[in-house]
Amino acid sequence: MSKVAVIGAGYVGLTTAACLADLGNDVTVVDIDREKIAQLQKGHVPFYEPGLTELVQRNAESRRLRFTTSYRDAVPGAEYAIIAVSTPEGEGGEADLSYVEAAAGSIADCMDGPLVVVNKSTVPPLTGDMVSRVLRQRNSKHEAHVVSNPEFLREGSAIQDFMHPDRVVVGSHDRAAAEKVAKLYEPLEAPILITPNIYTAEMVKYASNAFLAARISFINEIARICERVDADAMLVAEGMGMDKRIGPSYLDAGIGYGGSCLVGRETVIVRREGRTAVLPLEQVFDEFQTDRAYEVLAWWRETETVEFLPVTVATMRPFEGNILEISTEKGRRLECTPDHPFATLTGVKLARDLTADDWLPLDEEAPLAEMAVRERNEVVSLAGGPTTVATPPPYAGAKTSWVRVLDIKRRPFSGAVYSLEVAGAHTFVTTGGLVTHNCFPKDVKALAALAERFDYHPELLHAVMDINRDQRMLVIDKLRDCLDGLSEKVIGLLGLAFKPNTDDLREAPSLDIARVLIAAGAHVRAYDPAAMERTQAILPELEYAKDAYELAAGADALVVVTEWNEFKHLDMARLKTSMRKPVVIDGRNIYVPATMRELGFTYRGIGRE
Ligand SMILES: NC(=O)c1ccc[n+]([C@@H]2O[C@H](COP(=O)([O-])OP(=O)(O)OC[C@H]3O[C@@H](n4cnc5c(N)ncnc54)[C@H](O)[C@@H]3O)[C@@H](O)[C@H]2O)c1
Repeated sequence: MSKVAVIGAGYVGLTTAACLADLGNDVTVVDIDREKIAQLQKGHVPFYEPGLTELVQRNAESRRLRFTTSYRDAVPGAEYAIIAVSTPEGEGGEADLSYVEAAAGSIADCMDGPLVVVNKSTVPPLTGDMVSRVLRQRNSKHEAHVVSNPEFLREGSAIQDFMHPDRVVVGSHDRAAAEKVAKLYEPLEAPILITPNIYTAEMVKYASNAFLAARISFINEIARICERVDADAMLVAEGMGMDKRIGPSYLDAGIGYGGSCLVGRETVIVRREGRTAVLPLEQVFDEFQTDRAYEVLAWWRETETVEFLPVTVATMRPFEGNILEISTEKGRRLECTPDHPFATLTGVKLARDLTADDWLPLDEEAPLAEMAVRERNEVVSLAGGPTTVATPPPYAGAKTSWVRVLDIKRRPFSGAVYSLEVAGAHTFVTTGGLVTHNCFPKDVKALAALAERFDYHPELLHAVMDINRDQRMLVIDKLRDCLDGLSEKVIGLLGLAFKPNTDDLREAPSLDIARVLIAAGAHVRAYDPAAMERTQAILPELEYAKDAYELAAGADALVVVTEWNEFKHLDMARLKTSMRKPVVIDGRNIYVPATMRELGFTYRGIGRE
């Protein structure tokens, strides 16, 4: 039995703690979230994970598992401190390591003897060195060895994944410390890979995530080719998966995932065919779906000047939480998510870390408001809008100045947030001329950002991200195609949750799809066996049906967004007779194309027309 402190009572921390306690260890969990700890002390697990409540309660009752907000109750006397705090996306796509750094500092302050510090948070290579440095600087009396031990568990099967892992990876500059961590896992009888330096173990996690993302992008690209040559991507994947060298997992063509991070009414300066306009991001996102020849005004740090550069990706994702309003000198302001990165005078910083000591780039030539644009006789909409203009405005080439941050306000927000990826500069000029950084989903982007830092351009990783991002909008393209436009069409979404058997909406494609459809003038209805209540809070403008049949009645098209089992067993003939047009876009490939066509549906799957 070992004495273990687990830092962070989230998904990974709590599962690790409960499982290690169940294996007979004496475990104390520390979290800075008082409410979470109070709940856990009463035996309530604050999120849903099958079997975890029972495991937590059982081990808490037998006093092998305790919860606290104080490091002093957990670290002194412990042989191991396992860091499992969050690592959200941070600076320029790299992982935000501030929580890991804070946890390391707090551990150092409470260490009273030699300690093995295990990093389980998903962190890029070289983070272990940072943790070692913090520990050494804050506590010179006691020695701590840092070990990387990446976690591979998946939500929904976390306990099973922890207790029966495919492999355990541990790595450290100190072999004895790595072996000590391996000992914790010995009862699991799983293969254990001990790497002779910490960077290798850290890299295993990032490389694995990037590889899985690459498989999904790969099959999605194959699916796009399949559609063009009349091949069936599902069978192609099945055929490939039978090869032992390839294997069947992560080869499902389907709907991709999205990025972040400004509120939709914030604006950017757009150029297309020599004409410029100031457009809200929500409109840019929408228009970008049909017209990719967009440029936006971006900013180069090296020269502190602005230039029009191509937009390579426009993203939108649902966001619930506090939005920050950053106000600066000269009356500029901008609303964004707390993790949105900014280019500051001293480097890239997240919105939530900005203070009155920070300076942001400002393009003073940029118009302050839409009125200013009209006065300059520029177009206000590029796609189908008025075509006036245009004296070319003197935006490009302008030298930027620096303005100090004055104030940061928070307000609760529930809705869509947007971002653009701009080739080369990775920045764009936004409302009132303030410059902001691009912002992207974490793991693959973080690995790409790390590579760039070491002067290597990871072409394959960039392609993986691009393909994944475009994937979700395929459904919209297919709908447009089948319905001859989207305006006034009634579209029913079968499923809202991000996967079946959950009400979880994080990263759910349904929200993006619904918003794009609404923006295009469609009437959107939805039905989901579990996630309607949550969606209602985010998207009250949707119409909610009590079942799939009510959803279909009078609809022009149905879109399968989540592959719930009950959708696989619907009476399709009954469904069809009640629809205005029998169009089914199967975003999850749950129906058999030939059967659907025999029934008289206009059917489109992903990669199997
Ligand atoms: N969720 C998954 O499926 C999964 C799988 C493998 C790896 N990971 C990685 O594991 C890490 C944790 O993920 P998660 O899903 O458990 O995150 P989470 O957000 O659910 O939990 C993190 C917890 O850490 C706490 N915390 C933050 N700073 C702290 C500090 N200084 N001291 C003590 N507690 C602190 C937070 O209050 C929160 O409760 C991340 O790096 C993640 O990428 C997650």
